[in-house]
Amino acid sequence: MIDRLTLHNFKAFQHLELPLGPLTLLTGLNSSGKSSVLQSIALLRQSYEAGDLAAARLLPEARRVGLRHGVGNQGFLLNGELVALGTGVDVLHEDFTEDEPRIGFAVDEGPRRYGWIVEYEPEQNLLPLLDVDLPLTSEGSAAPTGPEAVTPSFLTAPFQYLHADRISPAEFYPRDHHAAIGRGFLGVRGEHTVNYLRHHADDTVPAGPLHHKRAASDLLRDQAAAWMGDLCPGVDIRAEAIEGTDAVRLSYGFQGTLGATRRRRPSHVGFGLTYVLPVVVACLTARPGSLVLLENPEAHLHPHGQTQMAALCAAAAAQGAQVIMETHSDHVINGVRLAVKDGRLSPGRAVFHYFRGDGTGVEVVSPRVDADGMLDQWPTGFFDELENTLDQLIG
Ligand SMILES: Nc1ncnc2c1ncn2[C@@H]1O[C@H](COP(=O)(O)OP(=O)(O)OP(=O)(O)O)[C@@H](O)[C@H]1O
Ligand SMILES: [Mg+2]
Repeated sequence: MIDRLTLHNFKAFQHLELPLGPLTLLTGLNSSGKSSVLQSIALLRQSYEAGDLAAARLLPEARRVGLRHGVGNQGFLLNGELVALGTGVDVLHEDFTEDEPRIGFAVDEGPRRYGWIVEYEPEQNLLPLLDVDLPLTSEGSAAPTGPEAVTPSFLTAPFQYLHADRISPAEFYPRDHHAAIGRGFLGVRGEHTVNYLRHHADDTVPAGPLHHKRAASDLLRDQAAAWMGDLCPGVDIRAEAIEGTDAVRLSYGFQGTLGATRRRRPSHVGFGLTYVLPVVVACLTARPGSLVLLENPEAHLHPHGQTQMAALCAAAAAQGAQVIMETHSDHVINGVRLAVKDGRLSPGRAVFHYFRGDGTGVEVVSPRVDADGMLDQWPTGFFDELENTLDQLIG
């Protein structure tokens, strides 16, 4: 699990040190840097998967600045399957700190700290890895405890990353064997979810927090239907191949309603169901050690559905996955608080960050949740809109 992420001269951040937990919620104003945090992790993953970050490096305790030469063809691959970030000029923090600009990330996993520093190349989309160590933290970094080149687990762990912009209702979805079946990847827009469900419908969701108590069985198809049923009671989902094509089809049934015998296409049911399906499948298929990055899982859901999605994400974290999500929803916040209060997630496993920027930099405030689900601070602007509006209404 990633315990801490450090960003240096990356996009909105001159320097950011962010503690992460099994369930981390990134909240705050628009354009305050929440997605950029997820992008930094995705950037490391995509560079590693492309073979551009083969030699993961442990930052030594001593802050040694070594030779300034590139490390083979290694570096940050800015454009790929997970993120398309442009070129160096797009990602270097405008107000960078050194004379010679460099971008650096560090990731703490338990006692180990891994770090990467790349050179700034304004026009390049592979920023070369440097054989230098920069002081990425003001505190002492963890001492190396293993061999020089070790791969941190977040680079190889089962992984999902869902952007805010996901699949919408459609007649058919791609049938990409390699992504959905070979790698079990749902796609950044969730575009492989339907094909994944088609192939894995009879997989078992292991007993534990992810098990929905009203599900007909422990099979993925029934578990997914039960969690979706919290959004729209009685719904069931079916994913099937369209013979003779390289496409798959999604349909919905509604038990106990007037049209119970008819299956309906996604375009004839509520938009929110299809939009949230990748989130449901990403959480239900997360296992101990998995890393799940989610942007706005609440999008297009009614308030109670948003609370239920928080419960599902909390269940994935309680089952051993690491879930890092960006949200604008007080129902999601409260759903996680409730999971803590009900004992479904221990308080130390939920981490809240509130990002606020004043145009000159980003400040992060991190309220802590106690066992009763109460937060120890409520910074101005942190989900206080309901109260502010009510004050005006009754004032
Ligand atoms: N090279 C750069 N230097 C400085 N700031 C940058 C740079 N590139 C992007 N930014 C800033 O980083 C921020 C990026 O915001 P990001 O997309 O992470 O926001 P967000 O918090 O996810 O917003 P939303 O809630 O709308 O999704 C913006 O404020 C943008 O101006
Ligand atoms: Mg965002």
